[in-house]
Amino acid sequence: MRKKIAAGNWKMFKTPQETREFLRAIKSLPPPSCEVVIAPTYLCLDAAVSESAGTFVQIAAQNCYSQNQGAFTGEISPAQLRASGVTHVILGHSERRHVFKESDQDINKKCNLALKEGLLPIFCVGEQLAERKTGQLRSVLEKQILYGLEGIDLPAADKFVIAYEPVWAIGTGETATPEDAQEAHAFLRELMGRTAGADFAQKVRILYGGSVKPGNTAALTAKPDVDGVLVGGASLDVDSFGQIIAAVRIQG
Ligand code: 13P
Repeated sequence: MRKKIAAGNWKMFKTPQETREFLRAIKSLPPPSCEVVIAPTYLCLDAAVSESAGTFVQIAAQNCYSQNQGAFTGEISPAQLRASGVTHVILGHSERRHVFKESDQDINKKCNLALKEGLLPIFCVGEQLAERKTGQLRSVLEKQILYGLEGIDLPAADKFVIAYEPVWAIGTGETATPEDAQEAHAFLRELMGRTAGADFAQKVRILYGGSVKPGNTAALTAKPDVDGVLVGGASLDVDSFGQIIAAVRIQG
């Protein structure tokens, strides 16, 4: 059985002090039955790692660079993240792809190095509204997975996570229906079967992201191929993220 995950992507929100306060509150909740991951900004990783030590909360970075050191002003490397106690890294988030123009090749290089450094990638894919409307859902996901993972030596399936985040559902209040999510997730699992083999595809966790709230988490995670959620806005508040963690359905 795939252990479900509730992950919070804090994007460019919260100071180190706010990060500490949030983690103190969240770790006092009863131990959840899903895994819990929080991705604060780089600046707050240190506070997050120390505050979450020995608890059920795992810490992710929101991005990394594709080299471990050098003259790359403003970048942070996988080796630096690992040395700071970070265990996970979000890669290919739609804001990285569309606002910062990262290509599948950029994401491929980052993913390759992150894995070599022992980080667990949360590898994001998802189509834009115009692409969905013109019937390109499958071809977009196919390209993002096949180019994004090309030549990469994948680890054990529990050391790699995929997140399906339809761009039109991010921060818009418009969620994919559980059926839409299931259809895309089943296709992604099929793609992973082609890329990494049937066993890996069966075991890899695929999260849904895009306007996840306490009220829609149970229905989304009840679908057989939805193995958890990647939450933006609703992960910033302890009460709402706590409710999301509690609502993740353990079995479909
Ligand atoms: P929202 O939950 O705010 O729509 O953001 C989703 C997201 O981008 C998580 O990575």
